[in-house]
Amino acid sequence: SFMDLAKPPLTVLVTGAAGMRQIGYALIPLIAKGAMLGPNQPVIIHMLDIEPASQSLNAVKMELIDSAFPLLKGVVATTDVVEACSGVNIAVMVGGFRRKEGMERKDVMSKNVSIYKAQASALEQHAAPDCKVLVVANPANTNALILKEFAPSIPEKNITCLTRLDHNRALGQISQSLDVPVSDVKNVIIWGNHSSTQYPDANHATVTTFSGDESARELIGDDKWLQTEFITTVQERGAAIIKARKLSSALSAASSACDHIRDWVLGTPKGTWVSMGVCSDGSYGVPPGLMYSFPVTCDKGQWSIVQGLKIDEFSREKMDITAKELMEEKTLAYSCLN
Ligand code: NAD
Ligand code: LMR
Repeated sequence: SFMDLAKPPLTVLVTGAAGMRQIGYALIPLIAKGAMLGPNQPVIIHMLDIEPASQSLNAVKMELIDSAFPLLKGVVATTDVVEACSGVNIAVMVGGFRRKEGMERKDVMSKNVSIYKAQASALEQHAAPDCKVLVVANPANTNALILKEFAPSIPEKNITCLTRLDHNRALGQISQSLDVPVSDVKNVIIWGNHSSTQYPDANHATVTTFSGDESARELIGDDKWLQTEFITTVQERGAAIIKARKLSSALSAASSACDHIRDWVLGTPKGTWVSMGVCSDGSYGVPPGLMYSFPVTCDKGQWSIVQGLKIDEFSREKMDITAKELMEEKTLAYSCLN
């Protein structure tokens, strides 16, 4: 309505916005349509990319203008990180350095550490004080960790990374296996890193049936599948998409990024949790300070880790493997700083 459109706009930053045919191009129209902050929330979009991509970045701006999105109150397309970060309420960090053939892991890490260190300072100095940050670019957890370390004045609870895509992939696999609508499946968990060591856990997942919420595990009745193929399919889905598409996932990553921010800002539905990469407080024995994916509920713009879930031995082992990988990534990232 007229009144809703009179709400003050929120400013959303998307870095790496010029990724043609990729996440930026899929994400920006979703934001402008209200899929991220709701259908009544006007937005201003800031798009940042690097100089070689400035022409494609400008093309995205032209198309945004041509789309005449009613909620879109302004567009800034820039290669200047300070201009991009100014007054930002929500920052979605898609920009980063991709591994090229023959490159060592350390070289890729080193490039991303320097990008995330610089962008952390720009956000800290120029974004809105309560700015919420979502890191999408890989290595997502470790990029978020570096951002957190170099933006100490941003509350650490405001810095997160994307594992909602993995969460949605896990919901999708259960929905396919049981032949039920995906909207009837909830409360899977992605533990740990957004990498092939992540642990997709369906032990607490439920399916809405005529008689209420039932255990997905009981309905599936095949623990072997849940402990093998289900896990590896979700862990390796990113690679399977790259193989099929010759490009990495874009529309599903963009859609999941919107889900992440929407649930964080507007709240998770009652009785439902989602997975988010957040700074560990030591819950479930995960080393404090690590950026680790947990089950969380969100209320009034704040996430909290779901407590008290029973963890069996199988899960414990898988949760520790992915924590160990994150500690190794952290060590590697720090070695790049020196
Ligand atoms: P892409 O290479 O098409 O786009 C990345 C963009 O970032 C490019 O336009 C590039 O110019 C830009 N960029 C590079 N350095 C930058 C900098 N310093 N500042 C601003 N922009 C910069 O990649 P994509 O397919 O859109 O994927 C983006 C990232 O997201 C990749 O790291 C990818 O691995 C990751 N990803 C994560 C998930 C997840 O679930 N967490 C899912 C899919 C992809
Ligand atoms: C994905 O999960 O689809 C991506 O993280 C894959 C990738 O390597 O970009």
